[in-house]
Amino acid sequence: MAPRKIIIDTDPGQDDAVAILLALASPEEIEVLGVTAVAGNVPLPLTERNARIVCELAGKTGTKVFAGCDAPLTRKLVTAEHVHGKTGLDGPQMADPTMPLQDQHAVEFIIDTLRAEQSGTVTLCPLGPLTNIASAFERAPDIVEKVQEIVLMGGAYFEVGNITPAAEFNIYVDPEAAKIVFASGVPIVVMPLDLTHKALTTRARVDAFRAMGTQVGDMVAAWTDFFERFDKEKYGSEGAPLHDPCVIAYLIRPELFSGRHINVEIETGSELTLGMTVADWWRVTDRPANAMFMGDMDAGGFFDLLAERLARL
Ligand code: RIB
Ligand code: CA
Repeated sequence: MAPRKIIIDTDPGQDDAVAILLALASPEEIEVLGVTAVAGNVPLPLTERNARIVCELAGKTGTKVFAGCDAPLTRKLVTAEHVHGKTGLDGPQMADPTMPLQDQHAVEFIIDTLRAEQSGTVTLCPLGPLTNIASAFERAPDIVEKVQEIVLMGGAYFEVGNITPAAEFNIYVDPEAAKIVFASGVPIVVMPLDLTHKALTTRARVDAFRAMGTQVGDMVAAWTDFFERFDKEKYGSEGAPLHDPCVIAYLIRPELFSGRHINVEIETGSELTLGMTVADWWRVTDRPANAMFMGDMDAGGFFDLLAERLARL
């Protein structure tokens, strides 16, 4: 079967970085048409820099990296240095990238790519706030029906919020963008905190990265050591949730994940619950299902896949 064509829209972020590495290490299943950076965990100049650093680390300097929106559609940017550090990739020392940033704006790249590729053959993989995706849909409504699928990390139901009591970070940063995407009619697969909080980087799993004896393994272990301190303190968990790589793992081995096709709406009116993904998990409304909302995973299988693929780089 031909590899699935994807655009990774991202705000690196240590977990985004692992997701990008997993995608670039899996050419049999995934063809990365481009990596589009968006402001999120850290401001855009850092997310685009970090995206290029990760592609270089993977030895894939031919990957096209684009800078996108530097702020949400209508709101002030909220960032997450408290989780990811000042650079967004804190942990190991990282040299500045040497590979080029593409001149084209990320939103234009998304639009042009969807218009150029055969309809229904491009999957969008947002790993950060949905500003670039929503901007592309607003600027070029004709591309919406051309999208094969959106597989995104964001939202929460049982796990509720991680940036406010009600909202997960990616959705909270740009709830208006999320509302546009979830109302677009494009088939959506959601990897919410309910799922990603089961993908914990236990000591044994981090040791497995370090035991690879490769620069990639060492970097992923160092990023994890930094990234996990926040979640361990907050949740008392053994390790940090590797949120974003769940999106890419789903493309490679969907059978590792399970969920329900339900209605998911985005709160944009209430300041108290802004950015909440109101997931009708128990189907108590007659609102039409618009998303495959994942709730469970085979975490062991996920980390086995991750270790096997990262060892290739
Ligand atoms: O809430 C977790 C999400 O927010 C992840 O994508 C992380 O990288 C941050 O963007
Ligand atoms: Ca992210």
